[in-house]
Amino acid sequence: MKPLSFLRQVLAGCVHPPLLDDLTLPVDVRQRAQTLLDACEERSVGSYTDSSGLDYVRQSIADFITRRDGAPCSASNVFISGGSQRALMVMVKLLAGTEWDVPTGVLTHVPCPLALPMLLDEAGVSLEPYELKKDQRWAVDVDELHRALTAARGRCKTRAIFISNPGNPTGHVQSRKSIQDVIRFAAAEGLLLLVDEVYQNYVFGDGVVFISYKKILFEMGPLYSDTVEMASFHSISSIGEGGLRAGYMELVNIDPRVMHFVDTMLCTDISTSVMGQLALDLMVKPPKPGDSSYETYTEERIHVEKTLKKNCWSACKVLNNLPGVSCEPLMGGIYLYPSVNVPPATIKQAKERQVDAGALYCEKLLQEQAVLVGPSCSHGPPPATHHFRFCILVPSDVLEEALRRIQKFHHNLLESNLVSVI
Ligand SMILES: Cc1ncc(COP(=O)(O)O)c(C=O)c1O
Repeated sequence: MKPLSFLRQVLAGCVHPPLLDDLTLPVDVRQRAQTLLDACEERSVGSYTDSSGLDYVRQSIADFITRRDGAPCSASNVFISGGSQRALMVMVKLLAGTEWDVPTGVLTHVPCPLALPMLLDEAGVSLEPYELKKDQRWAVDVDELHRALTAARGRCKTRAIFISNPGNPTGHVQSRKSIQDVIRFAAAEGLLLLVDEVYQNYVFGDGVVFISYKKILFEMGPLYSDTVEMASFHSISSIGEGGLRAGYMELVNIDPRVMHFVDTMLCTDISTSVMGQLALDLMVKPPKPGDSSYETYTEERIHVEKTLKKNCWSACKVLNNLPGVSCEPLMGGIYLYPSVNVPPATIKQAKERQVDAGALYCEKLLQEQAVLVGPSCSHGPPPATHHFRFCILVPSDVLEEALRRIQKFHHNLLESNLVSVI
């Protein structure tokens, strides 16, 4: 999507301070750039920062969380990193430790974010899958959490539970009750909550709202809010600036001695990109009513939301008209997760090649029509139905073209299957 003008203008002023005298830039842009530069060492984005991030930005994030949740957040519990995935890696590596007799396990929903299995693997941690309830729009089921925890016993020591809300790739948004259930489960089993809330700004559907885990944790009273350990993640990737590489995590109820190690591990990066950190500040502290950039900023944000909604409806309509494909509208997030009955000849071909049939479907789509969708991550035996993850946060004309190509590909695939069956 087109970048947010306010964000890019402020960053431009920070990179090239003579622009701060350019009266064609809105006054609030110039003021913000000056304030952010003042927060940098030597007033330069070329300087390093503390390994946990600029104090100024950590405070802005803490203020944002406090406003959002109505629960206190201290800047000392906020750690900025080169993307939310980097912060997640730090936490997972800490959990992995080296002194345990058995490997560490992390309960992880399946389907899960595409890169997560690799991240856990690199940290030497075992992915312990819990299935989401497909017939309940991919909701979390507490009985399934208990089943997964029991199944993991003997294989590993489960120390944490990972959850993405809004869900990647399912688009599920958890209800208050569902979050309470997960918190109670984590409390009873002594698990650290690893909560990816990166898509918190993208929530649609009647009556669907995003509520943070932190908010619910504090609403549940001191029995939970003083004890349950949690790391929650957010990122500038959610506003289309992932390439600037910055995200943060808030740690709750983590032992200060462990926080010290978090800081130490972030030290190995020396410093998160300063431009990314400044973008984080702008994400959590956008223009206010009355600021000169407020109108444009609001229009641009609304345009993104409208595009996503429109894309969702047109993609569902097209996909649901394809034989063997079924797609539910999003509750939140940026991915559709349609199911597809991969035709028999393609399944046979996948077996011969010893690859997942869903992945082969995606590979053929990429090769034949240059449309990139992601296969679902399969754990265990091959699934009866395959899914693919389809990012729809793109300009509508790009989406329409992608849909035309998917239609063409799918019909061609069915026809060639018929021919090979005959
Ligand atoms: C679930 C999830 N979390 C986080 C991210 C972004 O990671 P980062 O903040 O490291 O760019 C993505 C990007 O695709 C994602 O899908």
